[in-house]
Amino acid sequence: MCAVVQTGYGRPRDVLHEQRVAIPTLPPDRLLVAVHAAGVDRGVWHITVGEPRAARLAFGLRRPRTRPGFDFSGTIVATGSKVDGFSLGDEVFGTTRGSFGAYALVDPRKCAPKPPAQPFAAAGALAVSGLTALHAVRNHGRVRAGQRVLVVGASGGVGSFAVQIAKHFGATVTAIASAAKLEFVRSLGADVVVEYESSSIADHGRHDVIIDIGGCRRRSELRRALVPGGTIVFVGGERGERWLGVRRQIGAALCSPFSRNRYVMFVSSENATDMRVLADLVTAGEIRTAVDRVHPLANVVDALERLERGEVRGKDVIEVTGSTPGEPAAHD
Ligand SMILES: NC(=O)c1ccc[n+]([C@@H]2O[C@H](COP(=O)([O-])OP(=O)(O)OC[C@H]3O[C@@H](n4cnc5c(N)ncnc54)[C@H](OP(=O)(O)O)[C@@H]3O)[C@@H](O)[C@H]2O)c1
Repeated sequence: MCAVVQTGYGRPRDVLHEQRVAIPTLPPDRLLVAVHAAGVDRGVWHITVGEPRAARLAFGLRRPRTRPGFDFSGTIVATGSKVDGFSLGDEVFGTTRGSFGAYALVDPRKCAPKPPAQPFAAAGALAVSGLTALHAVRNHGRVRAGQRVLVVGASGGVGSFAVQIAKHFGATVTAIASAAKLEFVRSLGADVVVEYESSSIADHGRHDVIIDIGGCRRRSELRRALVPGGTIVFVGGERGERWLGVRRQIGAALCSPFSRNRYVMFVSSENATDMRVLADLVTAGEIRTAVDRVHPLANVVDALERLERGEVRGKDVIEVTGSTPGEPAAHD
C-alpha cells in the first residue's frame, strides 16, 4: 500500500516521503481501516520537525516510531477477533497513528461512526481539533449560556471548532484572528470578530472565559480582557520553544490556586464517547469541519508547509486514494 513515511526529524520536505509499505497486520483488539481522508494538524507538524524536543522522549529519539497522520476517516475492512460493536463496511472517523496511508490500524476506543451525511474529507479532520475544542470549551472553560467567550486564534483548526462549540453552548463569542481571515471566522458564527495585528485583545471588553489558542500572549495581557474571577484556558500557541513548549501554560496553572481567576492548561485526550458527541453536533447542524483545501497523499509536504506559513483557514485534509472499501486486506 502507499503511505507517507518519516525518515528523521526535520523540515517536512526533507523527512517525509511517499513509499510502498506493508499493510499492517491486524491484532485481535484493533480494526483495519481503509483510510479515505486524514486531517492535517499542528501535532503532525510538531512530530515532523521534532520540536519541542521533549516530545522526542515520547515519540522516538531519532525519528518517530509510527508513521505520520493522526486524524482519519475511512471504512472498516477487517475487525480483530476481540473487537465488538463494529462491522466490515462501517464508516468511521477518529484518531490513529499513520493515517497518511491507504490502511491504518485503529483502536476501537478511539473511533466512532461517521456522521452519515458528512463527507469523508470533513470527517477526516474532525477528531483531533474538534476534541481539543470540545474539551477546552466544555470541560475546562465550563462555558454556559449567556457568558462572553473570547477565542484567541479562532481561524485555525482548534479555533474554528471552538467558536462553533461555544456558540452551541449559548455563549456570545468574540473571535480573534488575522485580518485576512475575519470573514471566515464570522462565517463560523462569531458575534464579534477582531483582528490582532493592529489592536490589543484588551480593547474589546471583558470576557467570562478566554480560550487561548494562538499568539502566546502574556497572562497579564489576557487578564485585561477577563472579568474578575474568570477563566483562561491555555490550549497552545506557537512560540518556537525548542525544548519544552509549555512553559507559559505550566506557569499559569501553577499560579491558578493563588489567583481569584482560574487558569487551566490541558492535553486533550482521545475517546470514543466525545467523538460521538462531535458526530451528534455535526448531524444536528451545530458544528461543521471548515475544510479549506484537500490535497492528494503525494502533497502532504505542501499541506504541512501551508500550515507552517499560517495560510490555512480551518483545516486542510489529505485525501487518501487507492483504498477502496472491500479491497482484500492482503499483506504485501
Ligand atoms: N492542549 C492540547 O491538547 C492541544 C491540542 C491540539 C493543538 N494544541 C495547540 O494549539 C495550538 C493551535 O493549534 P491549531 O491546530 O488550531 O493550529 P493552527 O490551525 O495552525 O491555528 C493557529 C491559530 O493561531 C492564530 N494565531 C497566530 N498568531 C496569532 C496571534 N499573534 N494572535 C492571535 N492568534 C494568532 C492563527 O490565526 P491566523 O491564521 O488568523 O493568523 C490561527 O487561528 C498549537 O500550538 C497546537 O500545538 C494543543
